[in-house]
Amino acid sequence: MAGAFLDTAVAIAREAGSLLLHYYERRPAFELKGEHDLVTAADRASEALIVERLKSHFPTHAILGEETGDHAASSDYRWYVDPLDGTTNFAHSYPMWNVTLGLEQAGRLICGVVYDPLRDELFSAERGAGAYLNNRRIHVSKTARLQDSLLCTGFPSRRRHESINVHFFHQAAMVTHGVRRAGAAALDLAYVAAGRLDGFWEFGLNPWDMAAGTLLILEAGGAASNMRGEPFSVKGPHLVVSNGLIHSEMLGLFGEVFQGQYRVPLPTVNAK
Ligand code: IPD
Ligand code: CA
Ligand code: CA
Repeated sequence: MAGAFLDTAVAIAREAGSLLLHYYERRPAFELKGEHDLVTAADRASEALIVERLKSHFPTHAILGEETGDHAASSDYRWYVDPLDGTTNFAHSYPMWNVTLGLEQAGRLICGVVYDPLRDELFSAERGAGAYLNNRRIHVSKTARLQDSLLCTGFPSRRRHESINVHFFHQAAMVTHGVRRAGAAALDLAYVAAGRLDGFWEFGLNPWDMAAGTLLILEAGGAASNMRGEPFSVKGPHLVVSNGLIHSEMLGLFGEVFQGQYRVPLPTVNAK
């Protein structure tokens, strides 16, 4: 059955991707949901399409979508939907955004899709069956040392004054090949799975940002945890992913930030 879930998720992501492209070419106006938190008609139209398709294929499944919230249901399947990840990029015509769907059953991620319509790159994974980019198997990088790695992170659009990530960004930028900040978390995660990045971290991500991308990384041979090295949870509130080889070095570096000179407290809640 898992194959059927993934096939349906892929078809829905492609359909939503075409819809998003239509809006992107017309550069839609944005509204603010919060201080710096943008939303466009494209976010809403994409979510409406995805929720309608999921409900018609899987009427008993629960859905948690960024724009419409919780659609409770009777079964233990739950879809996490980000109808447009990277809205700020999208609204500025910066070509780094995607649509992503992840499915969990009884709290375990079982399949996920991250689709980048501009490059027609479709990343997909099923638990136990590997991770793929356009149907070709992908693997995390073989970079063995943090000092040889290219990392990526993101910053929240809400409560920026409370974000401690600038300290982590600084530490990592000093000891690696660099730290990217691309602005679309699900795509950042997919790039770790594909070996284009060696690691990624962020505070305050929401389940729809990380469900599919994290499964991709695990299925591509990588590692996922929270900042303390405890098992990853879609509930966050912090995420560290890597090719596995540099994971303990990343955790060690970050440990220095919150135990060392900065002594910043780890956040305890997600962004929303
Ligand atoms: C955001 C992006 C960004 C990340 C933020 C997310 P959105 O998602 O993934 O890279 O840094 O934390 O909220 O709002 O564009 O779907
Ligand atoms: Ca997002
Ligand atoms: Ca979004």
